[in-house]
Amino acid sequence: MNLFRRFRFPAAAILCVLSLGNLPAAEASKTAESAYTTGVKTRDGLGKYYFGREIASYMTHEGAPWLDRPERDQEERPDLVLQALQLKPGDLVADVGCGTGYFSWRMAQAVAPGGVVYGEEIQPEMLDLLAGNMRAHQVTNVVGVLGSISDPKLPQPVDLVLLVDVYHEFSEPAEMMAAICRSLKPGGRVVFVEYRGEDPTVLIKPLHKMTEAQVKKEMTAQPLDYVETVRTLPRQHVIIFRKRG
Ligand SMILES: C[S@@+](CC[C@H](N)C(=O)[O-])C[C@H]1O[C@@H](n2cnc3c(N)ncnc32)[C@H](O)[C@@H]1O
Repeated sequence: MNLFRRFRFPAAAILCVLSLGNLPAAEASKTAESAYTTGVKTRDGLGKYYFGREIASYMTHEGAPWLDRPERDQEERPDLVLQALQLKPGDLVADVGCGTGYFSWRMAQAVAPGGVVYGEEIQPEMLDLLAGNMRAHQVTNVVGVLGSISDPKLPQPVDLVLLVDVYHEFSEPAEMMAAICRSLKPGGRVVFVEYRGEDPTVLIKPLHKMTEAQVKKEMTAQPLDYVETVRTLPRQHVIIFRKRG
């Protein structure tokens, strides 16, 4: 998959995909599994829809250099993301769909001493890149975890799960989010960082952006309460939920 796959698509293509996204619109459902439908398969998607949203194909490890591009710090302001997470020493956290660990080492510093970051992935190649990056940053409290498309397989309950630019790629979002919720401590948080789907100035492919309303709609099927949306980032929003009960 080419590195620039996410950027700068002609307006006509964007409008086309946006309108296709409305075709199989599902009502907010009582059960997550019943919110799946099949519809038009667009170029970047699976033809599988969840709550009316076409699920995006996931980024392969060949796209990994894009995750560590030098301009990313300015574009995504990871410092502001970390501020929003309000982590503390000793926290157990998971970076689900961690890629090369762009956020893992930053979280690892925030939870030290005593805390652990589980860097979880479905691609073993990404876990190799994660290990190399953690060595380069001299971080020793990140543990790589190989998960599946429906279960992150975290070894113990965590205080927080971070999902940066990954949720829209979950091919089984109902099952995956249910497993993530089971992996959270009571009162634990799950944090979505997604490119803003409602902002036309964010030039990312439509299936790789999400609106706040869509995230909230999809989370009605999970045992989560909405907490807040942090709007300090240049192109993304940080949408925070807390495990109920
Ligand atoms: C766009 S990358 C983002 C990586 C990282 N979060 C970051 O911000 O640098 C998305 C990653 O999500 C992973 N992914 C996709 N579906 C997944 C799933 N069901 N469980 C875990 N990881 C998944 C992909 O393998 C890919 O590495």
